Amino acid sequence: MIGTPLSYNATKILLVGSGELGKEFAIEAMRLGIEIISIDSYQNAPAAQIAHKSYVIDMKNKELIKSIAYKERPHYIVPEIEAINIDALLELEKEGFNVIPNAKAVEYTMNRINIRRFAAEKLGLLTSKYKFASSLEELKLAIKELGLPVVVKPVMSSSGKGQSIVYKEEDIEHAWYIAKEKARGDAKEIIVEEFINFDYEITMLTIRTKNQGILFCPPIGHIQVDGDYYESWQPHPMSGELILKAQNIAKTVVEALGGYGIFGCELFVRGNDVIFNEISPRPHDTGMVTMISQNMSEFEIHLRAILGLPIHIRLLGAGASYCFHAKEDGIIPAYENIEEALSIPDTKVRIFGKPITRKKRRMGVALALADDIDAARKNAKKVAESIEILEKPL
Ligand SMILES: Nc1ncnc2c1ncn2[C@@H]1O[C@H](COP(=O)(O)OP(=O)(O)OP(=O)(O)O)[C@@H](O)[C@H]1O
Ligand SMILES: [Mg+2]
Repeated sequence: MIGTPLSYNATKILLVGSGELGKEFAIEAMRLGIEIISIDSYQNAPAAQIAHKSYVIDMKNKELIKSIAYKERPHYIVPEIEAINIDALLELEKEGFNVIPNAKAVEYTMNRINIRRFAAEKLGLLTSKYKFASSLEELKLAIKELGLPVVVKPVMSSSGKGQSIVYKEEDIEHAWYIAKEKARGDAKEIIVEEFINFDYEITMLTIRTKNQGILFCPPIGHIQVDGDYYESWQPHPMSGELILKAQNIAKTVVEALGGYGIFGCELFVRGNDVIFNEISPRPHDTGMVTMISQNMSEFEIHLRAILGLPIHIRLLGAGASYCFHAKEDGIIPAYENIEEALSIPDTKVRIFGKPITRKKRRMGVALALADDIDAARKNAKKVAESIEILEKPL
């Protein structure tokens, strides 16, 4: 059979960013026979391992991204991460390419200044109080106005990088330096936000569709450690009134951003208030739980929304996800103990296939389905903790 040409559905997708979320999206696309071309900044990224074709480039390089788009001429350009040269996407869209959900939504959501001002000042949504600062002096002044504690964040970063909570004045200088050091890009400003002592936080997965209006997944509860997601579950128990409030906020933002696809709207709930935090114009890491809790995962939903295919979301039970992380730097990982881990019924493991470890790097996720959230969380945690990451023998 060597030399037999592969046969594809006529559709071609250029996936910009090839991490674990991109890999699951690519699998869903391949199930419909779609051709996947992936791009990332390093070799053997999770989605690149399964893409029909992959490129390794500097994702900040506008001309390189554009030249691949022109060479491949995809039907859709699907950004998977925030760290992309945004001018490339803005220009490609102007030149007739279909960027998902659209280049403006990607631009707004990658920068905390844009999305915060858009949500609070243009859309009038409730957010934490915030200020921007471009020097240590300005940061001190901002904190004086907001009052301690505050959360200090780079304007461009993800997974909690460069983010810290300032409880006392002595911590201000440190917060300033790590926000500057860990920031992505060369923004002069940082954002400082009132610390919200929320009861819980959720992701409202919200889908903008061509033919079915706006759809929602049941709310996903989650726990972040140092700003990075560790655990999520679905459905998060909430009153009907609070769910409606959350859906209304998510809908307002998604309608304003436009385009088709799934969005992960992050919200804090404190008493009767639902407070907007931020939004991803793509599947959300906390939404990995949908790989077990729903009849359709967030990845399949994103694909269907992009293609204009019908979407019917059904919850299968109480689901939970629990991530497992590398403990050491620089090893080629091998995973042990999977047999024991999966001895619990209704559990699954997704190993992302990242080619090398970094301390605290997210390497995989355990998934569990049960009759109630507590049992699902307990099982997902047990599975995740059973898995050992060892150095692969040569
Ligand atoms: N103003 C705040 N008050 C209380 N907690 C906050 C606040 N801002 C952020 N957090 C906590 O830190 C977590 C991460 O913050 P945020 O979502 O703003 O950035 P991020 O996770 O780095 O971005 P991304 O979701 O793109 O990876 C939140 O999910 C929340 O748990
Ligand atoms: Mg976040």
